[in-house]
Amino acid sequence: MTDVDTRRAIDAPIEFIDLAAQRRRIGRRMDEAILRVVDHGKYIMGPEVAELEQELAAFCDAKHVLSCANGTDALGLALMAKNLKPGQAVLVPSFTFAATAEVVVWFDAVPVFVDVRDDSFNMDSASLEAGIASARRCGLEPVGVIPVDLFGLPAEYDEILAIAETHRLWVICDSAQSFGAAYRGRNVGTIGGITTTSFFPAKPLGCYGVGGAIFTDDDDIAAVLKSLRVHGQGSDKYDNVHVGMNARLDTIQAAVLREKLMIFSDEIEARGLVARRYHQLLGKIAAVPNVPAGLTSVWAQYTVRLPSGCDRDAVAAQLKAAGVPTAVYYAKPLHRQTAYRHYPVAGNGLPVSERLSEEVLSLPMHPYLDELAQDRIVGVLASILR
Ligand SMILES: Cc1ncc(COP(=O)(O)O)c(C=O)c1O
Repeated sequence: MTDVDTRRAIDAPIEFIDLAAQRRRIGRRMDEAILRVVDHGKYIMGPEVAELEQELAAFCDAKHVLSCANGTDALGLALMAKNLKPGQAVLVPSFTFAATAEVVVWFDAVPVFVDVRDDSFNMDSASLEAGIASARRCGLEPVGVIPVDLFGLPAEYDEILAIAETHRLWVICDSAQSFGAAYRGRNVGTIGGITTTSFFPAKPLGCYGVGGAIFTDDDDIAAVLKSLRVHGQGSDKYDNVHVGMNARLDTIQAAVLREKLMIFSDEIEARGLVARRYHQLLGKIAAVPNVPAGLTSVWAQYTVRLPSGCDRDAVAAQLKAAGVPTAVYYAKPLHRQTAYRHYPVAGNGLPVSERLSEEVLSLPMHPYLDELAQDRIVGVLASILR
């Protein structure tokens, strides 16, 4: 690099997620893939949809993959397939995106909020047990649990699946943020009875609009889901056998995802390198995320915890002034949000979710974050926190 190149790199704006860099890498192939769909004209359930589903299944070893309109509908379809009924309770973490609980309310069922672990930000199994007891005390019938793989790291499934089995609960894994990760030898998509994901553009595997998918090894569930995503249609198109949804993935988005899937393993590796470097450089100045042995993360976010008592808004503002974008996921746990605060919580409250919502700060994270940019981010954060 010449001095001028270095100066340019130092001054270049830092993106929180750099989709333009990915586009520079695969632009031409992508344009051709999209144009092929525009030309063949099969915009709904065109051939790319089934091809993508086969490729996703091969990628994670799931038996069945059903693409769908988005990650929220993926959860909704899964709950429909589980026949969730009004008044039943579903255990969900509070420290997550609203969709995880929102879909439960669609069915007039009751989300019961569970706390998360301090070390992984994922569902805490002791709090899950407490939540099941809280649901029963409220006169509700607990029927299922939706663990979330927050920020790309799988939840503690050994513990969660054991508790679910004891209490006869189904498990739907909300893996909107973690497709591509693995839990003790099992890929995301093959862990719970049903797994859902999102292809929102900012996700590790994102499309150019909205998209989602459902994974299951259960033939019967797969057949029901296939019908539900197209209005509950039967073998005769005009004799619907279920009340379903209009939740298909657009063919153009399937074509986009097929191209991105080809470089996904490479991108996951690059994300891992960025995360490892953050870990080395930041470990002494902030609490950095921890990946337990046997698990992998796809680093949907790289989220640090600022020291308690630190003014997070001021830190974020100083980072922004120095050209470093950040985000807060999530500033309010769900059990504190207006639409959800009247639903039950596990035990006597959710102190970890509440504390995390005050301390977390997500830093730029994407596969194309180079060392110069990362050094700038770390340098600015270090100088603020010192
Ligand atoms: C944990 C979680 N669940 C569900 C969703 C919903 O996905 P979508 O935005 O594709 O509907 C998201 C998306 O951000 C998410 O992060």
